[in-house]
Amino acid sequence: ADLRAFVLGLPKAELHLHIEGSLEPELLFELARRNGIALPYATVEALRAAYAFGDLQSFLDLYYAGARVLITERDFYDMTMAYMRRAQADGVAHAEIMFDPQTHTGRGVAIETVFAGIARALREAQASTGVSGYLILSFLRHLSEEQAFATLAAALPLREQYGDLWIGIGLDSAERGNPPEKFARVFAHCKALGFRLVAHAGEEGPAAYVRDALDLLQVERIDHGVRSEEDPALLQRLVDAQIPLTVCPLSNLKLRVLRDLRDHNLARLLRGGVMVTVNSDDPAYFGGYVADNYIACAQALGLSRQELAALARNSIEASFLPWEQKEKLL
Ligand code: HPA
Ligand code: ZN
Repeated sequence: ADLRAFVLGLPKAELHLHIEGSLEPELLFELARRNGIALPYATVEALRAAYAFGDLQSFLDLYYAGARVLITERDFYDMTMAYMRRAQADGVAHAEIMFDPQTHTGRGVAIETVFAGIARALREAQASTGVSGYLILSFLRHLSEEQAFATLAAALPLREQYGDLWIGIGLDSAERGNPPEKFARVFAHCKALGFRLVAHAGEEGPAAYVRDALDLLQVERIDHGVRSEEDPALLQRLVDAQIPLTVCPLSNLKLRVLRDLRDHNLARLLRGGVMVTVNSDDPAYFGGYVADNYIACAQALGLSRQELAALARNSIEASFLPWEQKEKLL
């Protein structure tokens, strides 16, 4: 049977998705028009043509620039609802969505506006499609730990209203030169508050950042983590403790973490017993949603149907859903 139909039919969780990275050029242009914001690109095609990246930072520059069109509650709602529809079409049963409040509060958008628009879309999507969503508030690691603490303080009063959705804390943006250690105190504080913890590590940064994310930040999952292979002792630890990696193959390709998808270590990690999952990261920028990532890997790496099903099962197991809900999806 058809590979796409098989992948769509697997119950999946998407665990590594930046909602700002789901903003498609068409919606970006519409929001710019709605908000009277001038764009440095004349057309949707010209913007899309600019999505050719040399590394993580060259992507981040465009990703943060693109987010400037997000102003109102309705903008955040529209962006999130568009993603949830795509997720449903891809057979995603549950999405754990990262968002970057500092990208918006730094431009004068209230954190209440960000939460309200995203949360309204998640609640409506759950009611109308059955796809559930959790939120992971992510700190920007190129900013200071003090700024992360200030963001947490601004967000905490909203936990009463959104605590059913906002379950976790993450760490993203420019990895090199911004090691986990920089955020050890704020992560310890978030852990004490009962948040689930994740961090990007070992995407562009070294395997040592993965180890430090585990030891110094006490995270439960590693976002990316593909460079863990460079440290055999760390790799063995990931296997022994079944620490999930949220791998994003098309992202790695577009950001030139590797030259060819055939060189990706996803299959080797899976066959070696690492709890790997497949995710889309920033699908509007990297040319594919989660099912596209499964399919591209199946083709480039020769993954069997059994292996694709194992990846989907891993995504449910590695999610932060309560076990009764995981059980229904496994
Ligand atoms: N890495 C780091 N920061 C990010 C990414 C990523 O892949 N996507 C959005 N912010
Ligand atoms: Zn990411």
